[in-house]
Amino acid sequence: MGHIWLIGMMGSGKSTVGRVVADRLERPFYDTDVAVEDAAGATIVDVFELCGEDVFRETEKTVLEEIATRPVGVIATGGGIVLDGGNVDIMRSTGTIVLLTAGEETLVRRLEESVDRPLLAEAATLRLRTLARERDERYRAAADLVVDADGSVEVVSDLVEAVCSGL
Ligand code: S3P
Repeated sequence: MGHIWLIGMMGSGKSTVGRVVADRLERPFYDTDVAVEDAAGATIVDVFELCGEDVFRETEKTVLEEIATRPVGVIATGGGIVLDGGNVDIMRSTGTIVLLTAGEETLVRRLEESVDRPLLAEAATLRLRTLARERDERYRAAADLVVDADGSVEVVSDLVEAVCSGL
């Protein structure tokens, strides 16, 4: 039995669904964004603003390595985790990678009110669509399993639980 790593775009529901699935499977839940904030002692917005994206990515990698060694759990990762091939190797070697996919309209709708995504600080909708298209190939190449995440938290959690049953 290994970790269940949830990957996918901002707004795909990784943290919300991850918490529900962890609860149902009685496993710990971890979140790389929260771990970055703990490690940095600052919010993600501040890390981006004060230190830049490169420092954020380095910290993200460090916390991923550390989380991988924790008792097996369900993990929500930041949307950019797949940008580093080494991160994908770590996730693959320590569990199963589940991609949550949602249509661009869904992502836009879910993130309309978001103020804590530095990459969407300007021209959010356009940026989101561009990132989703740029990253699609990486997400699909990294994923062991793909789950449609357009539905409600309940529905998506059911799907993740179903594809992960027996893992
Ligand atoms: C990012 C996604 C965010 C967070 C950071 C960068 C990205 O996490 O890690 O703002 O590059 O897509 P969520 O996917 O949890 O929003």
